Amino acid sequence: MRHLIDIGDLAVGEIDELIAVAEDIMAHPAKYAEVCRGKQLATLFFEPSTRTRLSFESAMLALGGSVIGFSSADSSSATKGESVADTTRTVGCYADIIAMRHPKEGAPMAAALKSYVPVINAGDGGHNHPTQTLTDLLTIREELGRLGDFTIGMCGDLKFGRTVHSLSSALARYAGIRFVFISPDELRIPDYLRLSLLRQGFGIEETASLEGAIGELDVLYMTRVQRERFFNEADYVRLKDSYILDAAKLSLAREKMLVLHPLPRVNEIAPEVDDDPRACYFRQMRYGKFIRMALIMKLLEVRP
Ligand code: CP
Repeated sequence: MRHLIDIGDLAVGEIDELIAVAEDIMAHPAKYAEVCRGKQLATLFFEPSTRTRLSFESAMLALGGSVIGFSSADSSSATKGESVADTTRTVGCYADIIAMRHPKEGAPMAAALKSYVPVINAGDGGHNHPTQTLTDLLTIREELGRLGDFTIGMCGDLKFGRTVHSLSSALARYAGIRFVFISPDELRIPDYLRLSLLRQGFGIEETASLEGAIGELDVLYMTRVQRERFFNEADYVRLKDSYILDAAKLSLAREKMLVLHPLPRVNEIAPEVDDDPRACYFRQMRYGKFIRMALIMKLLEVRP
């Protein structure tokens, strides 16, 4: 039985295969409409979500399966003190696969260790978000046409931004990637990630200036400064609007640069950018459904 807790749980060849299946699903959706008939997905979301939970649910329904679950810890027995491991064992009696989001780093891993069914990490605190990374990789593959030989700028909250951590780890396994990390000093990438990239031979480029870096990028990955990760409201207020991508800043970018964002956004991308053809973030969240369909099929070991 396989779980997906960290993007490193998948070999590069497996990621490429998932992307190929997602592309086939987009081209031939009817072929996949009954693949999970009789199977159940449980979405256990101890932390809020719009895209991840609903795209997982939509993915399972599009595969002919069904969905159970909860969208907040308040409506589960976690409020009575039940452990994540016991919740997982319980749900494993009713469902064939679990997608779990949790505010505590490592909770999906703890769940997987005791689970009777595959567990997918749908985001754990400020740690990892591997299915967002699969979404991001499919988006880049579709919109840029390749998964290698490009410069990516990651901008915003790189310290707590789990999507940045997972995506950096994944891209480090492809050839010819240049990373530019754009953040205020307080929100720089964690030391473990910097060390890991350095050990793999990457030169780490870090800057506080979006305007200074944007002209060199093929992909700009914007992120939200996440209020829920801060211990101190004053720090959040001081840092929340560190970067706002607007039409003026976008005018400094290459004509074909992609703008990605895992969403939700607050102020970091001005709505005036939405209609620019370089803005991929709404198409990106659509790709999320198809890659999650491919992932569910892989972990349940079903094929059309
Ligand atoms: N990208 C993402 O994880 O969005 P949600 O928080 O809405 O699931």
